[in-house]
Amino acid sequence: MSMLRRAAAAIFVPVVATSAIAADTDVKAPRLGTPLSTGEIAKWDRTIFADGRGLPPGKGAAKDGRVIYEQKCADCHGLRGEGGTAEELVSEPKPPSGDYPSKAIGSYWPFAPTIFDFVRRSMPPAAAGTLTANETYALTAYLLAANGVIGEGDEMNAKTLAAVHMPNRDGFIWIDVKP
Ligand code: HEC
Repeated sequence: MSMLRRAAAAIFVPVVATSAIAADTDVKAPRLGTPLSTGEIAKWDRTIFADGRGLPPGKGAAKDGRVIYEQKCADCHGLRGEGGTAEELVSEPKPPSGDYPSKAIGSYWPFAPTIFDFVRRSMPPAAAGTLTANETYALTAYLLAANGVIGEGDEMNAKTLAAVHMPNRDGFIWIDVKP
């Protein structure tokens, strides 16, 4: 290698190395993933608020919910919601301040629409997001009726579910959250 070439190689190598490092650590363009499509965003952007905002069209009642519950939920939560490998969902009404407080839905949850949100978003864990709106209304109705919060025949839909008054409605301390 001539002196000239050796000098050129010596200059060339550091330039390549520096630009490779710069590309890997460029904080302005981390190249993590790809932007979500509108459809993908819609799949997750469906929060239901405590006052019922966000509840979808659809309806369901306890008798339909019981069938779905036994197929998709009972393995973990017990045949009648009494608990198993996962939380108890149904119990006799127990005040949260008593000696044996219960976190079953009827004793603990302050709002009914968020039960719908939780179930549709995350249950059953192995197939989260697969329940339809009607199935989720039916399951929510079943859980509320089993806890004695609504009647066995009461239909749950966006209007009736938002109107359910949970027994533990005032059992939480409110914090100010700026919109
Ligand atoms: C494979 C087991 C499993 C199955 C099946 C399952 N769950 Fe769950 N469930 C869990 C676990 C574990 C938790 C606790 C999750 C947590 O706290 O983050 C939970 C939590 C819940 C809660 C919240 C309980 C609370 O008060 O904190 C509800 C409501 C619920 N599940 C409903 C359902 C419904 C309805 C189905 C059927 C569609 C279902 N689950 C199927 C395991 C299961």
